[in-house]
Amino acid sequence: MSNSNMTECTFIIFGATGNLTQLKLMPALYHLDEAGRLHENTRIIACGRRDWDTQEYNVELREWLVAKARNGLDNHLFQRFCKRITYIEGDLHNPQLYTDIKNYVEQQHLPSSLAFYMAILPRDFGQVIEHLSTSSLLDETDGWRRVVIEKPFGHDLSSARELQAILAQHTREEQIYRIDHYLAKGMVQNVLVFRFANLLMEPLWNRNYIDHVQITHSESFGIGSRGNYYDHSGALRDMLQSHLMQLLTLVAMEPPVSMEAESLRDEKVKVLKSVRPIPESEVDDFVYRAQYAAGSINDEKVPGYTQEKYIPADSNTETYAAMRLHIDNWRWRGVPFYLRTGKRLKQSQSMIAICFKHPPQKFFAGTGIDAAENNWLILGLQPEECLRLEMTVKEPGLEMHTRIASLDAGFRTERDQVNDAYEELLLDVIKGDHSLFLRWDEVEWSWRIVEPVIKAWQADNTPIDRYVSGTWGNPNSRRLFHHPDLRWRHNMTTEHRSQDER
Ligand code: BG6
Repeated sequence: MSNSNMTECTFIIFGATGNLTQLKLMPALYHLDEAGRLHENTRIIACGRRDWDTQEYNVELREWLVAKARNGLDNHLFQRFCKRITYIEGDLHNPQLYTDIKNYVEQQHLPSSLAFYMAILPRDFGQVIEHLSTSSLLDETDGWRRVVIEKPFGHDLSSARELQAILAQHTREEQIYRIDHYLAKGMVQNVLVFRFANLLMEPLWNRNYIDHVQITHSESFGIGSRGNYYDHSGALRDMLQSHLMQLLTLVAMEPPVSMEAESLRDEKVKVLKSVRPIPESEVDDFVYRAQYAAGSINDEKVPGYTQEKYIPADSNTETYAAMRLHIDNWRWRGVPFYLRTGKRLKQSQSMIAICFKHPPQKFFAGTGIDAAENNWLILGLQPEECLRLEMTVKEPGLEMHTRIASLDAGFRTERDQVNDAYEELLLDVIKGDHSLFLRWDEVEWSWRIVEPVIKAWQADNTPIDRYVSGTWGNPNSRRLFHHPDLRWRHNMTTEHRSQDER
């Protein structure tokens, strides 16, 4: 592969022995290398606290990649990949680490464009930026300097603003890449293509035709070993304020002036600004939370949240959060958007389900078709990527009975490559494309939306509802619905009626 379209750079990963690096970053970089998408001079500096040298690091790396390499680990390729890597042992809080990095880059003549990846605890983000700045590692004297920041960006509105103040003091907004890995999922990007590369749906995409929208991310697994992080976060911060709010913006935004990053982000921010603020005193009408209790998933018994490692027995942290939002603009006024996420639910899946209104007149009254079903448009994000439009059709036969048929735009073929979101994100950092990263005002507006909820929940110590693991959650969540007949849509296929909770 020729290097002509590629930029050489040095990736510096802080937290290079951590979970994210093992499961996502290194596999993504390896896959990019395999696909010939890394410049031959590109180098990776892996920083960690463990007392390893590069050779020892690469022994571990091999194990991680054996588990993750899509096409099996290729020995020849792995050797080539290892040549890009240097492990530097050091403490993030010690200025020596930054001096070591700087000296190494200069003495070894590594590419001078530097991307710093914060795969570390969020509370350390600010301090690392300050150290980078003090050691002049952020000075763009030769080549660019980019900082990649993982979520969560802050813990609430004020801590997000504090972190932003540090960033703004030492960097320019163009140097910052705030990650929301959801945005790089293939089907999430397809939401924009589907909306803006086809004319068909656009006339229907508004309050005149759409009854409501449901955005769901459910997981059948629990919090695993992340108890320390999760108990301070909860479902609202972990998923809803970030990933689900981003999906909301893509569904609801106006067509951007162009697909260029700033135009896209301008439109997304407008959606967030139009969300009707939730009064702190009315949080219960708009938001619901609950926590998983013991139960069983796939016939296996699983513990309740408070029996998980690092979780206090009296924890009131929510593992399920659902929210009704209203977007008070010309297009969406009166259309509720329901956002829902939970751990240890019946199934792992993510989807956007758009429910259309009933036809204005009951043409078929008296013919047996008395309660016509709504048309649904299903955008399945994972595990199945799908695009499905459900219609009512007449059943074959002499009687006037109907059934739901679905127009299924299956667009994946077996030969299509499935890339992990991180591959695209890392490539975009190298290219300097911000489209899939969050601008500060997006982050700030998402925090503003959930801020009253955080405050109300903090002030309320009543034990929260529980739900049995392996179910679809506590039926009390239905109190959010604007109409008593509404139900959560649990299934991407037409069999949904048997599963949905009325
Ligand atoms: C992460 C959350 O950001 O997203 C996790 O911290 C969640 O709790 C994960 O499980 C879901 O993303 P994905 O890509 O695994 O579906």
